[in-house]
Amino acid sequence: MYKVTKAVFPVGGMGTRFLPATKAMPKEMLPVVDKPLIQYAVEEAVAAGITDLIFITGRNKRAIPDHFDKAYELETELEARGKTALLDLVRNIVPAGVNCIYIRQSEALGLGHAVLCAKPVVNNEPFAVILADDLIDSQDKPAMQQMTELFNYYQCSILGVQQVAREETGSYGIVATQQMNDKLGKVDRIVEKPAPAVAPSTLGVVGRYILTPRIFSHLENIPFGAGGELQLTDGIARLLDEQQVLAYSFDGIRYDCGSKLGYLKATVEHALQHKEVGREFREYLDKYCQGLVLPE
Ligand code: G1P
Repeated sequence: MYKVTKAVFPVGGMGTRFLPATKAMPKEMLPVVDKPLIQYAVEEAVAAGITDLIFITGRNKRAIPDHFDKAYELETELEARGKTALLDLVRNIVPAGVNCIYIRQSEALGLGHAVLCAKPVVNNEPFAVILADDLIDSQDKPAMQQMTELFNYYQCSILGVQQVAREETGSYGIVATQQMNDKLGKVDRIVEKPAPAVAPSTLGVVGRYILTPRIFSHLENIPFGAGGELQLTDGIARLLDEQQVLAYSFDGIRYDCGSKLGYLKATVEHALQHKEVGREFREYLDKYCQGLVLPE
């Protein structure tokens, strides 16, 4: 019986959709209210019992290791000023017993290549992949925890999926499944970013994967695919020929924080729920929507 204890965070992308904000700063460090996207992703992994966080980084990504590292100056300063709540917040970003491992992807050759970079650390174990761009809020259990629990039972690769609009299939890995129930299906086919007319379904993969280590040998052998990149989807398509892969419609709301609109929706909704500013923000929005906000 295997357990998932490692998660791979591909964070090497350039974030061109958020330029100029991402010129010198990783897109994964964009905050949703007061927490960077990558921290939401890490918290989801940790909640799922994952203890090894493997970041596949690239140029201009130094802020990520810094964020998860000790910040001596800041901590000393906060301590001296007696700001204990903030000090705890800063110190507990990564809980004790959780390791951060950084691998530098020297060329941005695609998601499949980024995941392959984790091979020396993952070795022969199943592992999770979390794309921080896809921020998922779940009421009860975080999405990755739902998936690791399923993995504990099925012991096979599992893809987090969601229905997407037919006109948007060209932005996703799309799966064709044989549904076992309304949430879980056996994947028959997976295609990277098919045009709406040829998409095998409207079930899109949204940034959460549990993969068996067999994926690495396929990623080593796939040709460059959609967009001229080594696609994780193409590796999964080959994995399907020899192993069962499940598609799981997780419980939760997913925000596409790789797009400006999705990021703005995540920001507004998280702000509305925020314990410090939520109530005032709601009052402000109400007034704003009624055209009652006056310039100060
Ligand atoms: C990547 C994957 C795609 C997946 C998507 C989810 O695409 O290649 O299969 O559906 O993430 O967000 P990207 O958004 O990086 O272009």
